[in-house]
Order: sequence, then structure tokens, then C-alpha cells
Amino acid sequence: MFNIFKKKTNSNTSIEIDYNNIPKHIAIIMDGNGRWAKKKNLPRTFGHKAGVETIRKIIKECNRLGIKYLTLYAFSTENWKRPKDEVNALMTLLVEYLKKEFDELNKNGVVINYIGDISKLPKTCQEELIKAKRNTINNKGVVMNLALNYGGRAEIINALNSLISDIKDKNSKNITISEKDFEKYLYTSGMPDPDIIIRPSGEQRLSNFLLWQCAYSEFWYSDILWPDFSEADLHQAIYDYQNRDRRFGGI
Ligand code: FPP
Repeated sequence: MFNIFKKKTNSNTSIEIDYNNIPKHIAIIMDGNGRWAKKKNLPRTFGHKAGVETIRKIIKECNRLGIKYLTLYAFSTENWKRPKDEVNALMTLLVEYLKKEFDELNKNGVVINYIGDISKLPKTCQEELIKAKRNTINNKGVVMNLALNYGGRAEIINALNSLISDIKDKNSKNITISEKDFEKYLYTSGMPDPDIIIRPSGEQRLSNFLLWQCAYSEFWYSDILWPDFSEADLHQAIYDYQNRDRRFGGI
């Protein structure tokens, strides 16, 4: 059955999403909160607060569209370089978000998951994340991966170290590791690679996000700042993805 979803976008163009070709995994670099706040003469943290509202909308829409995984880059291994106040505000927002939104997310079947080394986050963040993950693990809706203290390079090194420590005969000269073996040690183990990586705010770089997993991801950029990112923008990204020719190295 060919099921087509028609939607009017902000720019008044009619776009059609093919429900039979919904990406399994969407990853988003939620960029532009600071610039959004600056444009409005507000402190940067107001931009992050507005960014949380966008998360709320987008997670709901991803769930409705039947997307299986949504990975959100919320705090990178490099974001510790930000002023202490901003880091603290982000950590507080995270705890508030998990506490306030838990019931709604759970009711909608969202699986709350995280990727990254959360052991460096404040204890309250760790506790809320672990609790939210434990209590939603059997849900059947979209898996929301919050990338926290996440860096692609750190993930690869962490995977490598875990793999080495699991090798029983360390003196053997015949150890060969396959891509499949290695992937089991990544934070995203068992998940499909992202089909599409979305970065709003006009920047066109990966910023250490999902370096291993992005081998064949489609990239989608837009000038919209994350707090202004809407369901229509998500639809546009999916539509563009669906109209690309993914050859995975073939012809
Ligand atoms: C990048 O924009 C955004 C971040 C580093 C943080 C993203 C965090 C949120 C959207 C809210 C908190 C998250 C959760 C899960 C509750 P930027 O600040 O670098 O913007 P700029 O480039 O315009 O300065």
C-alpha cells in the first residue's frame, strides 16, 4: 500500500513524505541556541530553554512518523570548555526535562536512552538518566538517544579499550577484529547507523558526532536556528532524504 503524507511547509510548498520510506534513524546536531537568544537580546540559557521546547515537538513528531531512533547531540566532550554557568544551566535543564517530561514520554512509548560517558555528569543527571532508561526500556516507540558528554573520537577509543580488555589471549599474534565485532563496543551497539544527520544553524560540520556511524549517512543542513526548527523542517529534511540516491558505494 503506497501511503503518502501531504503537508504544507512554512514556505507554502506542498511536500509529500513517503511513509514507506521513513528513515529508521535520524540524528540531529541541535545547534544555534546561543545565536537565537542573542538575536532576541536574551541570555544564552534562554536559547537552550527554547531548544528544549523544540526537542519536545520533534520527539513527538518522530514518534508519530514511526522513526525508530532519534539521536540528539545535547552535550559534547568539548562543551565542558563553555563557561561554568552555562554548563550548569545545561545540566539543570537536563534534569528538569527528564523529571517534567518523563510521564508524557513514557505514555507515548518513548525509550529514553543516552550515549556518551555520563559518569562525568553531575550525580543528579546520572541518576535521572539511569532511572528514565530503566523505566522506559520496554517501551515500543522511538528510541531517544541523548548524546551527553559524547564525542565520536572518545567513543571509538573507549570501544577499542573495552575490546582489548575483553581479549582473553593477549599474547596471541592472530587476533583479527571485524567491523561487526568492533561495533558491539560502541554506544550505539545494536542500532542502525543514522540515515540522515540534520544540522540547523548554518554550520556545515560534524563536530565529532557519530564519526564511525556516519559512514553512509546523508547530511542535511539548514540556516534555521534550533529553537525555530519545526515539524515542517523535519518533514523537509525527510522529504529531501527520500529524494536522494543512496548508492552505498555501488552504482
Ligand atoms: C548548541 O547550540 C547546543 C548545545 C551545545 C546544547 C543543546 C542543548 C539543548 C537543546 C537543551 C538541553 C538538552 C536537553 C536534553 C534537556 P549553541 O549553544 O552552540 O548555539 P550557538 O552556536 O548559536 O552559540
